[in-house]
Amino acid sequence: MNAIEVKELTKVYKGGKSKIEVTALNNFSLSVSKGEIFGLLGPNGAGKTTLIKTLLGIVQPTTGSAKLLGKPISDYRIKNRIGFLPENHRFPNYLTAEETLKYFSQLGGNSPINSDKRIDELLSLVRMSEWKKLKVGKFSKGMMQRLGLAQAMMNNPELIFLDEPTDGIDPIGRKEIRDILIDLKNNGTTIFLNSHLLSEVELVSDRVAIMDSGKLLRMGRVDDLTTTKEAYIIETQNPISPDFVNAKYASPSSAEASFDNISIKLESSKKLSVNVKDNLELNFVIDSLRKNGINIKTISIQKNSLEELFVSLITDERGGKK
Ligand SMILES: Nc1ncnc2c1ncn2[C@@H]1O[C@H](COP(=O)(O)OP(=O)(O)OP(=O)(O)O)[C@@H](O)[C@H]1O
Ligand SMILES: [Mg+2]
Repeated sequence: MNAIEVKELTKVYKGGKSKIEVTALNNFSLSVSKGEIFGLLGPNGAGKTTLIKTLLGIVQPTTGSAKLLGKPISDYRIKNRIGFLPENHRFPNYLTAEETLKYFSQLGGNSPINSDKRIDELLSLVRMSEWKKLKVGKFSKGMMQRLGLAQAMMNNPELIFLDEPTDGIDPIGRKEIRDILIDLKNNGTTIFLNSHLLSEVELVSDRVAIMDSGKLLRMGRVDDLTTTKEAYIIETQNPISPDFVNAKYASPSSAEASFDNISIKLESSKKLSVNVKDNLELNFVIDSLRKNGINIKTISIQKNSLEELFVSLITDERGGKK
């Protein structure tokens, strides 16, 4: 069973007085397996928060349906199995860290007497024990996020939604949060993460989706999304002359391939990047190098960063609209 199943969700915000309609989700579908860390990426205004809010029943979908933990999102009984860290959350300034968690524990239906141990556990997990008695009004952004994360974990949720969890947190704190997320995953929790911090998501997610303008643009394992199948890097032991690339002295005997069709670039004196359409072309490049007395050290598949993929997908999407 999938932890999250979204089927053709559309959300149109009807403008109030301005009468402007915004399609925040446009026929959006995805599924997240149980136990996965899933990262949803998209630029500002892409519709990430709207998706989470729709799944949690805070926003009503215009059309489409979704299930959480196998039940329709309209089933309120699933709510106590779900945790949520909202984007830009605010807690009352006059409460201490401990009182805030006590408040949320009681909202979750726990008795105040039984909550103390769990609160101490959570504060230690998010490294906030020493600030237990400090009022939230004195908290830094990072401390607020940690407390928010503790709040989201209060009821040992099976599924947890985190909207920009590392927003405002320094690199050490971000690493700590990543470790917490991995611990949660190892305990079987499914984590759905919204972020525009690509490297963050890349480091922690099993799968990611990239969205813009309410639409799903790409979804998959980070490794699969960033591997460019027919692009290779060839490193050599001895230097390659620039003529090798420029002269295009393709072997006339090779009817199948010539350098005219192959995108080939000298990255440095001992490094060549090639874009080929098949294995035959790759071998043709290798043969040509060897014929020129160049020894090959390594051949590796070229990887794009998630950021490169993100930027190119969003640029294409927006360019296509003009
Ligand atoms: N309550 C609302 N009423 C009208 N429009 C809204 C409302 N909430 C969001 N929108 C619009 O819907 C679109 C998607 O917004 P959303 O907050 O879901 O994006 P996001 O991907 O979470 O962005 P960010 O990265 O900035 O948090 C935006 O154009 C936004 O202006
Ligand atoms: Mg958002």
